[in-house]
Amino acid sequence: MDPDAILDIIRDKLIPATVNYNHPRMMSYVSSASLTLPGLVEGLVASLKIFPYSWALTPGSTQIEVTVGRWLGAAVGFSDNAASYMTTGGTGANLMALLAARVARTDWDVRRDGVTGHAPLTAYASDQTHKCLDQSFAMMGLGTSALRKIETDAGFRVRVDLLEAAIAKDIAEGLQPFCIIGTAGTTNTGAVDDLEALADLAERYDLWFHVDGAYGALAALSPRVRPLFAGMDRADSLVVDPHKWLNVPYEAGCLLVKTWGALSETFSLVHEYMRNIDTDDAHDHWHHGWELTRGDRALKVWVALKQYGASGFRRMIDQHLDMSARLAAMVEQAEDLELLTRPSLSIFCFRYVPPDLHGDPSKGQYLDRLNEAIETQIQRSGDGLITGTDLAGKRCFRPCFVNYRLTQEGIDTVIAQLREIARGVDARMRGSDA
Ligand SMILES: Cc1ncc(COP(=O)(O)O)c(C=O)c1O
Repeated sequence: MDPDAILDIIRDKLIPATVNYNHPRMMSYVSSASLTLPGLVEGLVASLKIFPYSWALTPGSTQIEVTVGRWLGAAVGFSDNAASYMTTGGTGANLMALLAARVARTDWDVRRDGVTGHAPLTAYASDQTHKCLDQSFAMMGLGTSALRKIETDAGFRVRVDLLEAAIAKDIAEGLQPFCIIGTAGTTNTGAVDDLEALADLAERYDLWFHVDGAYGALAALSPRVRPLFAGMDRADSLVVDPHKWLNVPYEAGCLLVKTWGALSETFSLVHEYMRNIDTDDAHDHWHHGWELTRGDRALKVWVALKQYGASGFRRMIDQHLDMSARLAAMVEQAEDLELLTRPSLSIFCFRYVPPDLHGDPSKGQYLDRLNEAIETQIQRSGDGLITGTDLAGKRCFRPCFVNYRLTQEGIDTVIAQLREIARGVDARMRGSDA
């Protein structure tokens, strides 16, 4: 086919059938937009087939990836000299962290011998932990039940006392704890665990301390919320996701660890047909991850950081913190909305409650159905997107502010639409229930 005709198909068929993440009224999931120059660079990287793998073949992009890891580690206060590996996203980076934790905290050759014949390995995280960690435990062959889900407090932060009790119980029963996982910004509510207390526990029990900061860790750029992240610098590994709050194109997740050795001991593998390009340099990425062929995921992040600097992103993050605080305050005042969590970062939860049903506990199921139906209707409207979640048994909305194109006007429009749609859906549902 003629290239123009191919591009016409993309314009006419594919793009209209795609949610527009660059939209100023996109405030769903953890969805950010794509900055222009990093987006263009992504095309360049693909065209040149840049493949950051070995220092000998691609010293430029290899160095860029190392630099980006150091910059991200320094920006969030994890380490000024972090070892790193760019991944497809937070899911892959969390899995890699747990693999490294397992190698570091077992006293046999787990890569060669696996886990059979040893005390079962266990790890600990809050019940608000992202599902990708369950996925990791399933994929590691440890089983999802090896990840102990610990209850959270009223602010959806892990109960450290219960976490310690769970470790002690497992040890007493002959199991082998190997890792504590803290979350720096949960997906549901943006809660940041007490990382200092978790670091203390990890130290006391000689466990690997991992922090999932895929959504929230970059907020540590802002001095306004930085104190929430105290203790993150004591983690052995940290996940940050530049394709979220840094607004770079997919795919850009990043695993940060304290030492390159933690990665190479877990992943290093030299292919005989490529041995002669192995420089055994600390920055050959084939020693630091599980992939052979991989695209360059760091250049777009480097470009974004060069263009806007930490200060540019700090300003944007502060705006998002303001936007979420402002909207939460408005929700709290509204007679038809109920605030369920306050934003500690840029996510919070609320639901629509018709004024005459406020405070009526018998209407819980109806409110769940109502809020779910409103969400569906909003998604179909195509005018803006705000999505929901289940929180403490309640269906609710969960706006998330990480999109640099989001405007105050856009937010006000989405909320006005939500209330209008809600009134219509409520009237219809009551009519058909009657
Ligand atoms: C806290 C947290 N961890 C992990 C992930 C998974 O990241 P990704 O979608 O980049 O794989 C997410 C995604 O929203 C998240 O919010």
